[in-house]
Amino acid sequence: MSDHIIPHSYQVSISHRKTLNGHNSLLLWFTGLSGSGKSTIANVVERKLFDLGIKTYTLDGDNIRKGLNKNLSFSPEDRAENIRRIAETANLMIDAGIVVLGAFVSPYKKDRQNIKAIVTEVNFVEIYVNTSIKECERRDVKGLYKKARAGEIKNMTGISAPYEAPENPDIEIKTERETVEDAAQRIVEYIIPKIKLQNE
Ligand code: ADX
Repeated sequence: MSDHIIPHSYQVSISHRKTLNGHNSLLLWFTGLSGSGKSTIANVVERKLFDLGIKTYTLDGDNIRKGLNKNLSFSPEDRAENIRRIAETANLMIDAGIVVLGAFVSPYKKDRQNIKAIVTEVNFVEIYVNTSIKECERRDVKGLYKKARAGEIKNMTGISAPYEAPENPDIEIKTERETVEDAAQRIVEYIIPKIKLQNE
């Protein structure tokens, strides 16, 4: 069917939008166990970027799974579809000229590779929020680990489903050693040169 779909080209392009915004767009992807601190760090990064006048938007697992992806479970197939839809959404936002932050467990390497393929490598910054399962379980902010141990939640990442850690993330945050503020500042400093327009 896609053979019979011909994309329309619009007068206002991504480069016009970038010029208007005064910055490039890209995707900052936070991956890590549930409760590792992805959303907490993304939140501070977004605030810092916003305060610098950068157009941002955050996509978050718990929010997206209540709307766009509410029909998806935590089976490997559904997680792949979850990540594919989010990557396509992020790609539209990149085209809209926005710096997108995505905070998703995204435990499978092949799914994270798929994001990179969808948004292209140059637009993808992988941030591994590395918090041990022991520490996530100790924090248990949402009470999910307790439920998983009691057998009330199936396919819980780190307990009854795998987490495939990134081997070469652009940035790794060890939350047991670094504060949220320091981690967020490090991320902002890493991406500022990447979102600067060439002619500046
Ligand atoms: S992903 O694996 O498909 O990327 P996603 O980030 O969308 O996961 O959703 C993860 C969130 O859903 C967690 O932060 C947690 O609050 C909740 N959750 C509920 N059940 C599970 C589960 N079985 N495994 C992991 N997270 C779960």
